[in-house]
Amino acid sequence: MARMKLSQIRTYWTDQAGVHGAKPQASWSDFRVMEMECRELCKYINDGDKVLDVGCANGYTTMHVAAQKNVRIHGVDYIPRMIASAKKGLRAHKAFAARVSFSVGDIMKLKFPAGNFDTVMVVRVVINLGTWTRQLHAMRECLRVLKPGGLLLLSEATLQGWRRLNLLRVEWGLPTIPVPSFNTYLDQKKVATALRGHADLLDIANYASTYFVGTRVLKPLLIKALSLNADPSDPGMEWNRLFSLAPSIGDYGTQKIFIFRKKR
Ligand SMILES: C[S@@+](CC[C@H](N)C(=O)[O-])C[C@H]1O[C@@H](n2cnc3c(N)ncnc32)[C@H](O)[C@@H]1O
Repeated sequence: MARMKLSQIRTYWTDQAGVHGAKPQASWSDFRVMEMECRELCKYINDGDKVLDVGCANGYTTMHVAAQKNVRIHGVDYIPRMIASAKKGLRAHKAFAARVSFSVGDIMKLKFPAGNFDTVMVVRVVINLGTWTRQLHAMRECLRVLKPGGLLLLSEATLQGWRRLNLLRVEWGLPTIPVPSFNTYLDQKKVATALRGHADLLDIANYASTYFVGTRVLKPLLIKALSLNADPSDPGMEWNRLFSLAPSIGDYGTQKIFIFRKKR
């Protein structure tokens, strides 16, 4: 499948904002993974932190974190429509609205001084930047605005997770899942060493491996074997909820969270 140009990727996200408004589907159809991702991210965020959420879309994750943790959190996204949806959605959350803010901004040139945040989270954004050169620049830019000792939480799709999931699918007669045309998945090995000298990689959380096996391998196989009239990609099914609650084993999840600590 032909890769989208940067201008087409921008149009894609503008359209997503227009179609889905404040719904989680503006950023991804699989809201179950997003729930799991939020749970995992919250493990690394402390009450009192000043947090930046880069590429926040309509603020789904930003607001989830604000509901779970007593943090001040600012979300930026380069699509004005996404930020408009985020601001509108925030009005419904009186309990934490005063601690949350949003603005339009580009990950390639963040408008914050160096060392400004305790935690910077980047959730499925770097995969939209087209080339490794741009991806590396974006990661460095996020690290720049982080305080020394602060955490960079990079939740992205990896080539390694995607390949391993497809190996399992092919073994069981299922076709491979393609990389979406607007995405450039990250090479885990490159990411692990990308910030060397400036940040330490503390962990890579394979939080969604069991879920991906359950929903991208077992589910389509069962639907086919039992000739069920069910949509394998429907995240609203109990099956998906069950696997989203299961402990994660293995490295079959396309999505992973890289946890970096900026050097002091
Ligand atoms: C998968 S969505 C992000 C989801 C969001 N972080 C969440 O947790 O719901 C990807 C987002 O990245 C944004 N994005 C892509 N390139 C960007 C850039 N250069 N600067 C800022 N945001 C960008 C898109 O507009 C889109 O909203």
